[in-house]
Amino acid sequence: MLELGVNIDHVATIRQARKTYEPDPVTAAVMAELGGADCITVHLREDRRHIIDRDVRILSDTVNIKLNLEMSVATDIIDIACETKPNQATLVPEKREEVTTEGGLDVLGNYDNLESVVKRLHDNGIRVSLFLDPEQAQIEAAHKLQVEAIELHTGQYSLTSGPDREVCLQDLIASGKQIVDAGMALHAGHGLNYQNVIPVSRIDKMVELNIGHSIISRAVFVGLTQAVREMKELLTIAESGN
Ligand code: PXP
Repeated sequence: MLELGVNIDHVATIRQARKTYEPDPVTAAVMAELGGADCITVHLREDRRHIIDRDVRILSDTVNIKLNLEMSVATDIIDIACETKPNQATLVPEKREEVTTEGGLDVLGNYDNLESVVKRLHDNGIRVSLFLDPEQAQIEAAHKLQVEAIELHTGQYSLTSGPDREVCLQDLIASGKQIVDAGMALHAGHGLNYQNVIPVSRIDKMVELNIGHSIISRAVFVGLTQAVREMKELLTIAESGN
């Protein structure tokens, strides 16, 4: 089954704009679950600009579906992951000045550090996914790290249209095959929305999509449960081949 991971960071972004207590991402997780989410995704950024430590702690106690913690390899963030034990950690690169995650991890350039981080997470019983661009050499290096999953970065696909988008889709399909053939689970995310999600959903053996901005944007108008339900319906249509 293709699982929908709902990224609720933007709910926390609104809260942090006023440094108050509302809206609470913990409530958002419950609403997303009611709408059919299979997974709740949060990114604990080093600057704590949206999700804060308290959210991760409460979510790890209260989320009944899968909890996926997106994070950099900063030691204090890894410490929180090892303490709260989410079901899955997705390692992403992080720059302070970026608006959102800009590219995939450079596994080749950071192999030794990633090896010790992955080992620490595994020792704590946490499944590990790496956020990667659809690049053969990076995927090969990730496989050597014995991670369970790779989340393909769909940002480029989402930013393009027409023939350029088709080229991006073919790259994702080829990388997806490489990932699955190597025995890892295939995930994707970034920039996916109600208009562009179906072709990515149909990539062979895709098992998890992480979607945030478009779902939270729609939720402003239709409510979060309904926005999640509508996205989940698209994934079901994609899986049924209609
Ligand atoms: N996957 C990863 C690794 C991300 O960093 C993000 C953004 O936080 C997403 C998925 C979701 O991206 P979007 O908000 O564009 O749907």
